[in-house]
Amino acid sequence: MFISDPFLYGTKLVAILFGGIGVIANNISLGEFVVSFTFVDQLVTEIGQLFEQALTGKRLEASVECIQSVMGKESAKFGSADFSGDIESIQFKDVRFSYSPESDPVLNNLSMDFPIGKKIAIVGSSGSGKSTIAQLLLRMYSPEKGEISINGTPVNCYGKQYSDKVSVVFQQPHFIPTTIKENLTFDKEYDQLDIENACKEMLCHDFIMGFPSQYETQVGERGAALSGGQKQRLALSRAILKNTEVLILDEATSALDTETEFRVQKNIDKLRKGKTTIIIAHRLSTIQNADIIYVLDKGNVVAQGTHERLMDECPVYKELYAFHAVS
Ligand SMILES: Nc1ncnc2c1ncn2[C@@H]1O[C@H](COP(=O)(O)OP(=O)(O)OP(=O)(O)O)[C@@H](O)[C@H]1O
Ligand SMILES: [Mg+2]
Repeated sequence: MFISDPFLYGTKLVAILFGGIGVIANNISLGEFVVSFTFVDQLVTEIGQLFEQALTGKRLEASVECIQSVMGKESAKFGSADFSGDIESIQFKDVRFSYSPESDPVLNNLSMDFPIGKKIAIVGSSGSGKSTIAQLLLRMYSPEKGEISINGTPVNCYGKQYSDKVSVVFQQPHFIPTTIKENLTFDKEYDQLDIENACKEMLCHDFIMGFPSQYETQVGERGAALSGGQKQRLALSRAILKNTEVLILDEATSALDTETEFRVQKNIDKLRKGKTTIIIAHRLSTIQNADIIYVLDKGNVVAQGTHERLMDECPVYKELYAFHAVS
């Protein structure tokens, strides 16, 4: 049931009650009542739809990492197929996707295999569709054609169990206006020691301890009290603490200086060893050691392989590498 439904039905009920009383008391004619009720009906339906659109927009805008943890529930469009085992395969097959029916497809017949337990990188120029792939995997959107399957079953057939297995850190992480600790744990219980260890690995324990209230510090509205790099490191700590089967990092270290990024990435590699980690990055230094690198161009995979192989065989990759090495 939509949140706006009680408002919708409540308003209609009040209109019927007052209208009915008016007709019985001969204050208004039956015709006037029908016209007035039709008007009220249309008005509240419009308001209800506006309300729903605002909520849907907000949902897409907001970071899934927040939504997953804070709300802990999903839209009803997903199925309820049992997912008690582990993720054993992740495949995109001939996936086509556009953000709107009028626009050109962002992804066109895209096929990709994400090897389980490996470090997988997706690189490509800006607008090539990297974040779109992440969002499809997180079920923020559904493909127009083709299939995204997990263990051979379309991803949308699974319920919340799937979401609990996949987490993401976006470039601009979102925070709720509460303490650092609550933003790290949300509704889950963790040992303080585990929280601190995750923060030490992601190089944020020291700056947290530098605040007068330490882990109880209020982060402010949308994390306003934190710098971009601090927010990214906190969001990474949150993901490390959550330790899901699949972790997607979409430009998640972009606000860090090169040395800090290198140290954080090294610790992520250590902590995620044997677990599936999908990294989207512009600075190719962070993904050079990936088990497999996908090179994306205009919504399609133009090459795949290790860094060494791509440097030998893929001019697009070589160009990206040269550009980011210089910049
Ligand atoms: N919410 C959206 N609505 C409409 N078009 C979008 C939306 N998000 C992305 N696009 C378009 O889809 C294309 C792919 O965008 P995407 O964000 O996947 O690229 P990207 O490879 O992640 O780029 P970047 O490296 O700049 O982050 C772009 O042309 C972009 O303008
Ligand atoms: Mg992107």
